[in-house]
Amino acid sequence: MAEIERFRMTDRRAIDSLYRRVFGQDAADANRLRWEWQYARNPNNPDGTPLIWVAREGPTLVGQYATMPVRLRVGAREIDASWGMDVMVAPERQRRGLGEILFRNWDQHTGASLGLGLSESSYRLFQKLQWPDVGPLPCLVKPISRRALRRPRWPTPLNRLVGAATLPLVLVVSRPRPLLAEVQPIRHFDDRFTALWERVAPSFDFAVRRDAPYLNWKFIEPPHVRYSVVALVRDGRVDGYAVYRHLREPRGLVTLLIDLLADPADSNGVLTLLRWIDREARAADSDKIRTFAMHAGFRRLMRRSGYFTVKSTIEFTLKINAVEVAPAFYRETGRWHVTLGDSDQDR
Ligand SMILES: CC(C)(COP(=O)(O)OP(=O)(O)OC[C@H]1O[C@@H](n2cnc3c(N)ncnc32)[C@H](O)[C@@H]1OP(=O)(O)O)[C@@H](O)C(=O)NCCC(=O)NCCS
Repeated sequence: MAEIERFRMTDRRAIDSLYRRVFGQDAADANRLRWEWQYARNPNNPDGTPLIWVAREGPTLVGQYATMPVRLRVGAREIDASWGMDVMVAPERQRRGLGEILFRNWDQHTGASLGLGLSESSYRLFQKLQWPDVGPLPCLVKPISRRALRRPRWPTPLNRLVGAATLPLVLVVSRPRPLLAEVQPIRHFDDRFTALWERVAPSFDFAVRRDAPYLNWKFIEPPHVRYSVVALVRDGRVDGYAVYRHLREPRGLVTLLIDLLADPADSNGVLTLLRWIDREARAADSDKIRTFAMHAGFRRLMRRSGYFTVKSTIEFTLKINAVEVAPAFYRETGRWHVTLGDSDQDR
């Protein structure tokens, strides 16, 4: 019978080799690069140590549930919560109930257990445990070039034909529009961003607290990816920010809008940030912009800016423990702010 305990630094090596066995060599190398930042340097770590649970059988480590603690706004309250990530059970121990024990243990020790972008096996396990399922996280795409609508399985002539036929629409959608406020590239989130969070938080029924320490850790310090960040500034006051990066995919170049914050009622502010991203995407010669956004107000403004809703690949499931919520809470997600910048979705 396995015992579940908090992770100790001396477990690092055993976790590394278990990770390699479960997820493969490439994923293990990527995990090693991120690990220190992702788990040890999270400013929301309770008592300053990684919030990881391990399953031991005698001296052998047979499973882990690694989590990302965050402060979470739920209704008008703020609670401790954690994103679950990198859950694994040794291959020879799978399908014997150990995963379920790890999931339940995590859930018992957090104010809200949050899961984003799940594998088939963990999604099924969440379903089996009857966690509320609110996903998928809506995905929106804005075409920028005639290559935006290419499909890898279509023959080249068909891709060319579709590109030519849709070009007029793409040109209208992606035409340059004026910025309505000042946008400044930044390399550090200062206290003005914490003040922004405090001002706009009441617009959200559900959102991870985006204060300056969290934002610097999440978007400035990660070792595995480099983001561009811009602030929306009016008279010295920060009214919003956007985080993005460009990515080469097999089908072409994509600009990912990773995270965005502003008052959802500040249409000019949000549109200005979106227009800045348009310019950056064009300057990088991207074929399209892709983003994930849950808040109905942000999505409305994105559609107004030429984004289309497409099928999402990111499942979202969660359970609030620290405060009482009505079942309807999980259905009415229009004021929830969740993006690709949440959890560790952008790896
Ligand atoms: C996800 C994981 C930790 C679950 O651990 P486990 O010990 O196998 O899970 P349990 O035995 O407690 O629970 C089994 C339930 O999970 C689901 N499940 C687990 N593995 C599954 C699989 N390969 N396919 C479909 N469902 C699966 C089923 O609902 C299953 O219930 P059942 O056995 O009654 O059908 C484990 O499968 C694992 O390490 N997977 C590979 C890594 C991974 O995908 N991690 C998740 C990253 S988001």
